[in-house]
Amino acid sequence: MNYCIAIDGPAGAGKSTIAKLVAKKLEFIYVDTGAMYRAMGLYFTENNFDVNNHEDIVKACETADITIEYKDGEQIVVLNGENVNGKIRTEEAGKMASAVATIKEVRVKLVELQRKLASVQNVIMDGRDVGTQILPNANLKVYLTASSAERAKRRWKENTEKGIVCDLATIEADIIARDEQDMNREISPLRQAEDAILLDSSFMTIDEVVEEIIRLYQQHK
Ligand code: DC
Repeated sequence: MNYCIAIDGPAGAGKSTIAKLVAKKLEFIYVDTGAMYRAMGLYFTENNFDVNNHEDIVKACETADITIEYKDGEQIVVLNGENVNGKIRTEEAGKMASAVATIKEVRVKLVELQRKLASVQNVIMDGRDVGTQILPNANLKVYLTASSAERAKRRWKENTEKGIVCDLATIEADIIARDEQDMNREISPLRQAEDAILLDSSFMTIDEVVEEIIRLYQQHK
């Protein structure tokens, strides 16, 4: 049987950084489900599809071919033959992803792909509904969070290091708005699964969180 670790939590909690490091240590495949919603959001934007128009939604779900490849251990999202990794990391793409993630048809399409990936290999998968919806029988579930102030500070630092000029208060407001949308949508809202272990990383370093997850894995083996 494959081993599955589910990591859910709000935007900016450090899920992907931590999941990547844990994947490396355990030699698991890292599956970033948010990237798939980002690719779907990009598809809506590039084709001028309206997220409120049902015909557009059906068309987008039928014609967007999203597949996942791995190169040197890195997940590559391929949208209709194009590697879109370079296009989906912007704040704008994140907002669009959060908007298309409220659409049932989009979720049904992507959950199928996500389950398929977990059925053939040991995975550590991060997102919003991994423990509650995608892999309810995951061997280990972690709900990783941090205060919105701390998450905003980390995002600000990351942007500033990349030379992106940004404002801390605006970042925190965006994070709170994204939490609102992800936690209060009708389908598969972000919430901690009953059997998930809560990890608040506000006062933890990346290494401490990674070590804690490895420790939990050893316990749940
Ligand atoms: O983790 P991220 O920031 O890349 O995710 C972008 C958006 O995609 C997020 O705001 C909500 C949505 N998402 C989701 O609804 N379900 C998931 N499993 C992953 C992401």
